[in-house]
Amino acid sequence: ALISMRQLLDHAAEHGYGVPAFNVNNLEQMRAIMEAADETDSPVIVQASAGARKYAGAPFLRHLILAAVEEFPHLPVVMHQDHGTSPAVCQRSIQLGFSSVMMDGSLGEDGKTPMDYDYNVDVTRRTVEMAHACGVSVEGELGCLGSLETGMAGEEDGIGAEGKLDHDQLLTDPEEAADFVKATGVDALAIAIGTSHGAYKFTKPPTGDTLSIQRIKEIHARIPETHLVMHGSSSVPQEWLAVINEFGGAIPETYGVPVEEIVEGIKHGVRKVNVDTDLRLASTGAVRRFLAENPAEFDPRKFLKASTAAMKAICKARYEAFGTAGNA
Ligand code: G3H
Ligand code: 13P
Ligand code: NA
Ligand code: ZN
Repeated sequence: ALISMRQLLDHAAEHGYGVPAFNVNNLEQMRAIMEAADETDSPVIVQASAGARKYAGAPFLRHLILAAVEEFPHLPVVMHQDHGTSPAVCQRSIQLGFSSVMMDGSLGEDGKTPMDYDYNVDVTRRTVEMAHACGVSVEGELGCLGSLETGMAGEEDGIGAEGKLDHDQLLTDPEEAADFVKATGVDALAIAIGTSHGAYKFTKPPTGDTLSIQRIKEIHARIPETHLVMHGSSSVPQEWLAVINEFGGAIPETYGVPVEEIVEGIKHGVRKVNVDTDLRLASTGAVRRFLAENPAEFDPRKFLKASTAAMKAICKARYEAFGTAGNA
């Protein structure tokens, strides 16, 4: 059944688990997420970005998610709009039937320009007013997402501040977070604690301090009722990078957020964990390998089946690691 983000994350907080929020653009991702959730008895958050709407079209995305709800009626599903850049964008998603929206007022409508606190409060508060009147949850964002190592927001097309960020911009201020939640009424808050979007988060192998766990603790202590969200939480599996590069790819050395650090964050109030890049890497590796090993094959269902299986394995691993499994 379709449920709101608030309902799911309240349950997650009560039982101390986190929920991966996977981005969805096509049938194979949708199947991978749902089959993994079904096999692990996990509640689901699927999120659609502006890029996904551009790729698949809003009606196709909507019906893809509704089809998942129909095929797996026993699983709770949150249909979330990722990174809305204005109240108007969120309003259209609410009209389409999304049960949760993100109003990312940390950046302007171009998805690039860092905006000031008052702008963020204004657009987020207006979105909350509209969404809550419709039973829809709202995720806000405070602070500038960026890697603590590189100071960069990430390489994703679309969303992310341009240029190098200062160290103090990279960590959400706990006092400001408390004011923000009070002023806007958001259900969930995306915080800057060292993550960035895309595959190029860290240039060196992680040594256990990728995230500022300390800052997560400070923010959670100030706003214990607000569910914390970590964007840019892909782990960038080294085994899939190796497969991609073995079969004709050329991805330079790069590292993501270790799953163990995310699990530590979940112990301190992180409830929603956004993962997109890992599914992209697994899908690409699986397709490259399948086509290289089966050069006479030309039925897309064959290589897309390999893509689905690879993504499903990642989804299962995250449901299990984050404690989502068994909570559907
Ligand atoms: O926030 C970024 C997500 O990874 C979605 O990326 O806009 O390319 O679909 P996208
Ligand atoms: P990754 O690029 O780390 O998968 O993050 C995705 C994300 O935060 C979507 O909003
Ligand atoms: Na989001
Ligand atoms: Zn994001």
